[in-house]
Amino acid sequence: MNVRPPRLGRRLSLIESLAPEASRLIDVGSDHALLPITYLLHQPTASAVAIDNKEKPLAVAEKNRRRFGVEARLDLVLADGLPDGLVKADDCVVIAGLGGVEIKSILQKASYLPKRLILSPHSRAEILREALASLGLSIIDEHVVLEGRRAYVVMEVKKTSTPYHLNEYERWIGPVVFSKLKARDKTPALELYAKRLIKHLTNREKDDPSLQPVRKALMDSLGEDHESNS
Ligand SMILES: C[S@@+](CC[C@H](N)C(=O)[O-])C[C@H]1O[C@@H](n2cnc3c(N)ncnc32)[C@H](O)[C@@H]1O
Repeated sequence: MNVRPPRLGRRLSLIESLAPEASRLIDVGSDHALLPITYLLHQPTASAVAIDNKEKPLAVAEKNRRRFGVEARLDLVLADGLPDGLVKADDCVVIAGLGGVEIKSILQKASYLPKRLILSPHSRAEILREALASLGLSIIDEHVVLEGRRAYVVMEVKKTSTPYHLNEYERWIGPVVFSKLKARDKTPALELYAKRLIKHLTNREKDDPSLQPVRKALMDSLGEDHESNS
C-alpha cells in the first residue's frame, strides 16, 4: 500500500529533511506524531518513537499511526522528556515546539543522549545554547525557517568531546546564524529572525546594558538604515 505522507508545515518539513536516513527518530513533545509518521513514510526501513507527556495528544497520534499504516514501526510513549533506557547512541532525538528552558531541562534530566539531535526552541534559544555547551553538545548547523509570520531556528546538534565556549554574540544570535548574517548571506527568514531578536534585545537592554553590542551587531548585519523599532 502506498500511503501519501501528511502535509507538514515548513518548520516540521525542514526538521524531517534533516533527520538521518534509515535511523530511529525519537520525537519528544510529538503531539500528533505527524513528524515521525512523515519520516517513516519516506524511510521504509526506519523506526520511530513519539513521546508526549499528555494523553490527549497521544490519542491523536494513535489514530494517525493507524491512518498512515505505520503501527509496526512507530512506538507511542507517555513520558516526561526522555525515559531512562530508551535512547541508543545512533538514534536521532528531535525536540521541537517547546521553549528553550524546557528543552534544556529535558536534556539535563536525560540519563543518556545520542550522537545526534535536532532542536527547535520556540523561545529563549540563548538559554538552550548555553546549556548545550555544558552538556557536551555542539551546534554543527543552524537553519532559520519562515512559517506564518514567525521565523524559527532549527539547530543540528552533535555530541562532542571538545570543550567549547560560546561568546555573547554566538549565544544570543546563534553561532551559525551569526556567521551567515556577518557574511550578509541573508534570506527573508534570517532578516525576520534578526529583527525580532533586535526588538527582544532592545527590551532586555534596559536591565542589561551589556547586550548593546549584540543588538548593534545585528543592526549592522541588516544594513545601516534599519531601525530597531521596525
Ligand atoms: C506545541 S507542541 C509541539 C508539537 C511538535 N513537536 C511541533 O514542533 O509542532 C508541544 C507538545 O509537547 C508536549 N510536551 C510538553 N512538555 C513535554 C515534556 N516535558 N515531555 C514530553 N512532552 C511534552 C505537549 O503535550 C505538546 O503535545
